[in-house]
Amino acid sequence: MLIVDLISLAWFKTENNTLTPDEKKRQVAKAALEYVVENTIIGIGTGSTANYFVDALATIKHKIEGTVASSDATATRLKSHGIPVLDLNGVDEISVYIDGADESNRHLHLIKGGGGALTREKIVAAVSKRFVCIADDSKLVDMLGTFPLPVEVIPMACSYVARELVKLGGQPVWRKDFVTDNGNLILDVHNLQINEPVALETKINQIIGVVTNGLFASRGADVLLLGSDDGVKMIK
Ligand code: 5RP
Repeated sequence: MLIVDLISLAWFKTENNTLTPDEKKRQVAKAALEYVVENTIIGIGTGSTANYFVDALATIKHKIEGTVASSDATATRLKSHGIPVLDLNGVDEISVYIDGADESNRHLHLIKGGGGALTREKIVAAVSKRFVCIADDSKLVDMLGTFPLPVEVIPMACSYVARELVKLGGQPVWRKDFVTDNGNLILDVHNLQINEPVALETKINQIIGVVTNGLFASRGADVLLLGSDDGVKMIK
């Protein structure tokens, strides 16, 4: 596994030489501009790190053809910057997808969906040639699963899916007062042993009533950029 310092952004440092998680997110979002392919369509994720990326992208918006957003919230933010947002059904190719994550292992398998946008995120990632994941360095873990795994569920199937997830060893918790952009519910599954991310992703997706789950392992990231006190680190 290759880990190299890309950029050292010393000016972000606080008095004790450490960055806050938000400063690391802003740092890594700015570094991700290097991965934007000029005159192409860019896929944009959801969450606070993706928001920092949208703000950075605004500075070079004249260099891209447009974007596809992974959530209504991201589309709104892109439009507020005057960045064109396209309907995915009218787009043949996305050069790069840039998004955050809740956890990543060193194989670049991810847990995503803390913001509830996992299904659209997975769709945009699937269409994109390259997936660049951006996060602060606290998101890098040895084994996935400390962060509860989000599962998007068709509302009428919620109890059934929850029982099936218990059979897989998890403890599903309904995300209260939350409806996805697709009109569905989220179960956050605690205490899953995720030794085999690809196999578990497939197994959960096979439960009837599941729209998708937040494991991005079959199609993980291609590059992981991590904001840290020592600059941006890359794993690929
Ligand atoms: C949203 C996501 C986000 O990428 C994930 O929750 C990380 O969020 P943040 O950048 O705010 O830490 O998957 O559905």
